[in-house]
Amino acid sequence: MKEISEVTDRPQGYDSISRGLHWLMALMFAWIYCSAIAHNLLSDSALDKFLWPYHKPVGLLLLVLLVLRAGWNLLKRHNRPPSMNLAASIGHGTLYGLMFLIPLIGLLRQYGSGRAFSAFGLQVMDGFEGEKVQWMINMGSNFHSLLGWTMLVLIAGHIGAVILHYRQGSSQVLRRMTGINSRS
Ligand code: HEM
Ligand code: HEM
Repeated sequence: MKEISEVTDRPQGYDSISRGLHWLMALMFAWIYCSAIAHNLLSDSALDKFLWPYHKPVGLLLLVLLVLRAGWNLLKRHNRPPSMNLAASIGHGTLYGLMFLIPLIGLLRQYGSGRAFSAFGLQVMDGFEGEKVQWMINMGSNFHSLLGWTMLVLIAGHIGAVILHYRQGSSQVLRRMTGINSRS
């Protein structure tokens, strides 16, 4: 019979739900950054027109997945692999903070603008008549893109750190998140 730790979690690697959420969200971040880059550099191009309509819905979905991921991490807090080092803890913590703040600020600006917002066919915000909520709009205008690009730099650093570990002969870090040979 399999040990409980083998079925539910493995201290030397992330459990399958954590891994699934990490890679699913990484794919969605790739999509959202493609949409942001096309919007910035190729405004009004066919690519921008194709990708941009999904920016807000995918951003909202990323926030929902982040809340699920944080809840799962909390449930599994005694059964997660230890951090590789202090830099990894700080880097991952900062990524979590930004993954929360960026879509939240985007949604606040959306609400403050008074415009209706629907995602994947669901009405998320009804919109309202009258005065816009200026502080929400200002916060969005000042910080959403700024933090968004900052996180892209951090993601590049995160991927760079994984590659560095790998090239230095330690494939353990990648195995913790892919699950491949994680018990060997
Ligand atoms: C984690 C999720 C998200 C990331 C990483 C992200 C990232 C970005 C980035 C990097 C830009 C700059 C694009 C440019 O310079 O043209 C941007 C623009 C924008 N985002 Fe997001 N975004 C996210 C979620 C959202 C959400 C949930 C909303 C609204 C519901 C939203 C609304 C907007 C809008 C309206 C703009 C264009 C306006 C502007 O340039 O300030 N985003 N986003
Ligand atoms: C090609 C893209 C990516 C690769 C190869 C990659 C690889 C990895 C690896 C190997 C780990 C395990 C590190 C360890 O155990 O210390 C990890 C953890 C982590 N990654 Fe990534 N990653 C990628 C994209 C992303 C993106 C886009 C984000 C978020 C914006 C992200 C956020 C995290 C976080 C927060 C952790 C800590 C573990 C957790 O709580 O899920 N990663 N990543």
